Amino acid sequence: MTSSVLPLSQYLAAQAQRIDAALDRLLPPESEPPETIHRAMRYSVFAGGKRIRPILCLEAARAVAGADVDGIEDVACSLELIHAYSLIHDDLPALDNDDLRRGRATSHKVFGEAMAILAGDALLTYAFEALARAGSAALVAELAHAAGTVGGMIAGQVHDLEGENQTPTAELLERIHRAKTGALLRCSLRLGAMHAGAAPAQLDALSRFGEHIGLAFQIVDDILDVTQTSEQLGKTAGKDAAQHKITFPAVYGLDASRRMAEQQRTLAHQALAVFGGGALRLRQIADLIVDRTS
Ligand code: IPE
Ligand code: IPE
Ligand code: MG
Ligand code: MG
Ligand code: MG
Repeated sequence: MTSSVLPLSQYLAAQAQRIDAALDRLLPPESEPPETIHRAMRYSVFAGGKRIRPILCLEAARAVAGADVDGIEDVACSLELIHAYSLIHDDLPALDNDDLRRGRATSHKVFGEAMAILAGDALLTYAFEALARAGSAALVAELAHAAGTVGGMIAGQVHDLEGENQTPTAELLERIHRAKTGALLRCSLRLGAMHAGAAPAQLDALSRFGEHIGLAFQIVDDILDVTQTSEQLGKTAGKDAAQHKITFPAVYGLDASRRMAEQQRTLAHQALAVFGGGALRLRQIADLIVDRTS
């Protein structure tokens, strides 16, 4: 059976395993001094995350080059390291103050706040080491911008936190979601495409695809926070309402939010037209993002 006909779940499991192995090679072992920080870093990186960002990066490169490109694993890992850092910090008492992540205690609950802050800092630093080894300066700049404060992930986190005290508006909602989650997802596609030498039309198509799935991803994250239990999510359900977060269900209600996620799915599929029948896995991942239950 070739990889192109594997059922999606098996295919994704194989991709995630590949990413796990690459992350394992990239991070210092727990036995490396100072041991505490390496244990904390690995506790969060190997906690059962879906690896959606690195997998999108691998798939974007494949859509462009038709096969794997040298160094793509390190590029892909840099995205997961940024993601892992962002969640450790997102869960801190000063931010969302969450005790549960991926079905277990959050980093600061296990290692203390100081070590959780440092573990996040360290993963952020390793992300750029991995990317600098594998990719060009253009890729490094791309990731830094997507994780940063001008329309990037940190900008989104700031809007999200300050939004707790503001009237929810459609405009603020979209600004939060495009930045806090959308920027890194879009960047995942762009890094893969750029590393594979994408033509401008391909890079543009994958960027638009990334924007649509990025928005869909956070709409669904917000919906699941309302509709699922903490056990199903592996993180605390119902927190957004408790913390007066500006979310899609809060602004539009659940039904309209679901319709908006569907719209983003359609737009994401349409963005892939330039690849003809190719990019099947990207199409399927867009479906998964909208249809997921955790
Ligand atoms: C959760 O991201 C945080 C958001 C950006 C909404 P994921 O749902 O990708 O988290 P893991 O890595 O699979 O746990
Ligand atoms: C977090 O968004 C996005 C980040 C950049 C870390 P949320 O606060 O909604 O993520 P969860 O629901 O805690 O995973
Ligand atoms: Mg948050
Ligand atoms: Mg949170
Ligand atoms: Mg959330």
